[in-house]
Amino acid sequence: MTSTLASAPAKIILFGEHFVVYNQPIILASINKRMKIECKIEEDKNNTVNIETNHFGKKTFPLSIIESNNHSIVNDFFYPIIYILRKILRYYSEPYGITIKIHSEIPYGVGLGSSAALSVAGVAAISGLNNIVKEKNEILNIAIETERIIHKNSSGADCVVSTYGGLLYYQRTTSINMRSLNLNNELSFIIINTGLKHSTGQLVSIVKRFRENNLPEFHHLSNDVSRICERAVNALEEGNYLHIGKLMNENQTILERIGVSTTEINNIINSSLQYGAIGSKLTGAGGGGCVLSLIHHQDKEYFLANMKKRGYECFPVMIENQGLKVNIKSRNF
Ligand code: PMV
Repeated sequence: MTSTLASAPAKIILFGEHFVVYNQPIILASINKRMKIECKIEEDKNNTVNIETNHFGKKTFPLSIIESNNHSIVNDFFYPIIYILRKILRYYSEPYGITIKIHSEIPYGVGLGSSAALSVAGVAAISGLNNIVKEKNEILNIAIETERIIHKNSSGADCVVSTYGGLLYYQRTTSINMRSLNLNNELSFIIINTGLKHSTGQLVSIVKRFRENNLPEFHHLSNDVSRICERAVNALEEGNYLHIGKLMNENQTILERIGVSTTEINNIINSSLQYGAIGSKLTGAGGGGCVLSLIHHQDKEYFLANMKKRGYECFPVMIENQGLKVNIKSRNF
């Protein structure tokens, strides 16, 4: 009997969302909120796959789901997990049952990378059932493939940071092109959740349309984002708060231009700047989701108290250096 536990972190995008889909650089970081997935294979589970979650209830499938290409589940919330099972356990032959428990600390559908963390932790935990610890790059490739069933044009950036962790500069090319950045200062970020869920796929399509209709302008904006990322690398490594904040504000103006910001996001950003944020922008796909604000440590409590008074759901986050964590045990839980 084998049990496995894998966890993968959520992420924030500091600079470069959307343009990364068109091969521009992106700077993003894993944060201290995790997706934890626990799997076990048991002999007495009547050939079933039981999936339990803390946000989406639970569901039982016949074990044959791993073998059959049953397309009626393609729109099921649990499909990514079934996809991973099919990919990894397809040839496991003895009678058994699988239990998968998913515990997420990551708000879902608001740009914090919950689907990437689900894919990364899911691939690692399910591979562990074969008593194999896969290399991180192998896990990453299957996780990106899995995430693409949720949003088909994913740049893969979320899965990269969830796998490797830390603060990363990443560019989508034919191979994985990334570099870890060293922070000079610990940065103090606050996430403000609009509470409005978004579909990353739909927002990526909005940007695609903007690009098609405004090709020369989009080219220009892409160069601006690329320049922002290059400058941000230095600002982050120097721990230059003011410069980082200024670049975040510049990036937000570009995101507004391509149509992924909203009135609610803009209102949150204005309040953030009013209560002491040095920089503030949407993080992730936009169209709702979350706002990321950079704040001096000493202003954090004042900021949180005032934003909460205005009714905003907000919480501080830390950049976490560790990405995927895996633990495999070949015995009972
Ligand atoms: O799914 P989200 O909200 O974390 O956004 C992902 C970031 C995008 O650049 C908009 C899409 C991508 O695939 O990189």
